[in-house]
Amino acid sequence: MATERSIVILTGAGVSAESGVDTFRDRNGLWSKVDFRAVATPEGFAADPQRVHAFYNARRRGLAGVEPNAAHLALARLEAAWQGPFLLVTQNIDDLHERAGSERLVHMHGRLAAMLCANCGERRDWRGDMGVETPCPACRSVGFVRPDVVWFGEMPHHMERIYAALNAADLFVSIGTSGAVYPAAQFVQEAGRAGAHTVELNLEPSEGVGDFAEAIHGPAGSVVPRFVEDLIAGGR
Ligand code: OAD
Repeated sequence: MATERSIVILTGAGVSAESGVDTFRDRNGLWSKVDFRAVATPEGFAADPQRVHAFYNARRRGLAGVEPNAAHLALARLEAAWQGPFLLVTQNIDDLHERAGSERLVHMHGRLAAMLCANCGERRDWRGDMGVETPCPACRSVGFVRPDVVWFGEMPHHMERIYAALNAADLFVSIGTSGAVYPAAQFVQEAGRAGAHTVELNLEPSEGVGDFAEAIHGPAGSVVPRFVEDLIAGGR
């Protein structure tokens, strides 16, 4: 294995699909059932905070009923085996990558299991429900606690670290994402410009498949472990 090579991996909802977590834009995806403007924008939260809390409370409770799948486990195995620079960037707000053992991981769209106080900026791990009456554990103000997730129109997290890694990447792998949401959708171009080999692993060709040097299509639970074993064995 060429251990000095630098890897950046981007994951989206497709990596968690086989664990039973809903994707967004598939035929029965979340955004076909719920209006994203109502539950995933600052304006939606301002208009009906209780509804937005209820939506994320239900998803947070759902984490207890799902487990990492073979794709999450393979990525944790890759990180442990890889001695070069490695960064796993996920758009997912579930906690399945960390439960599989991934450590060099950033959640660019935030985390379900975390709160943010819009008054004092406090961020904390959060396992239970939250609501409009929940006081901030730091400043004690009421009415400002929200899920620490990134809504449309807000700045994704960890962007400096992500762009630094993309610009130093030898290999960029995008897994289970439709390529519909920016800035994640243009990471492939950023990494490609920096000289990385770019690979898409997705159930079907994504919107941006033409930007990748290589694409392998199939369910993440099968395709990712095979890809990772090849990489660890030095076969690619
Ligand atoms: P999408 O729902 O847009 O795309 C999921 C992708 O996963 C699709 O291309 C599917 O074909 C693919 N897929 C489905 N099942 C799969 C499987 N078993 N194996 C491999 N691939 C599979 O989800 P994302 O691209 O993650 O943002 O969406 C990006 C962002 O849009 C999310 O982070 C969220 C959403 O709105 C915010 O809420 C800010």
